[in-house]
Amino acid sequence: MAKLPIITLPDPILRRASDPVERVDADVLRLADDMLETMYDAPGIGLAAIQVGVPRRLVVLDCASEGEKPDPRVLINPEILDLSGQTKVYEEGCLSIPDFRVDIERPAELRLRYIDRDGKLQEHDASGLLATAIQHELDHLDGKLIIDFLSRLKREMVVRKFKKLARQDGPL
Ligand code: NI
Repeated sequence: MAKLPIITLPDPILRRASDPVERVDADVLRLADDMLETMYDAPGIGLAAIQVGVPRRLVVLDCASEGEKPDPRVLINPEILDLSGQTKVYEEGCLSIPDFRVDIERPAELRLRYIDRDGKLQEHDASGLLATAIQHELDHLDGKLIIDFLSRLKREMVVRKFKKLARQDGPL
């Protein structure tokens, strides 16, 4: 396994919509394993392939609480089939937007369809933090970020800050 560099704001690739994974082969599984290693190292609870520069509909997640045994999940071509009317607010962060957090209200429960790492079609219900993390990661596949939940003014402030940081950290 290998740790991959995580792409951060304001890189425009984060706004790109990802294409479906065509087949679950060794390359896809290697990418999923590398993404899990990258996510655990960060550390984070979810990562979409576009965040490591690969525009494919592939997501990894682990929403186990601290002290619980790891619960790595690989979702290939995930699709939300149903969302609950009831909502829940979580403070969300994103590995592509370091040191930024925002309260986001999202549906509390959902039904998900995806292909697992064995290439099998799965359907599962999710709730709690996992439901929020799934919605956050699926947003990435459509080029959507948590700053899109802010007002335009606040969003532009955050983007400006990251543009400034990128200039300072950039190659000379
Ligand atoms: Ni994110």
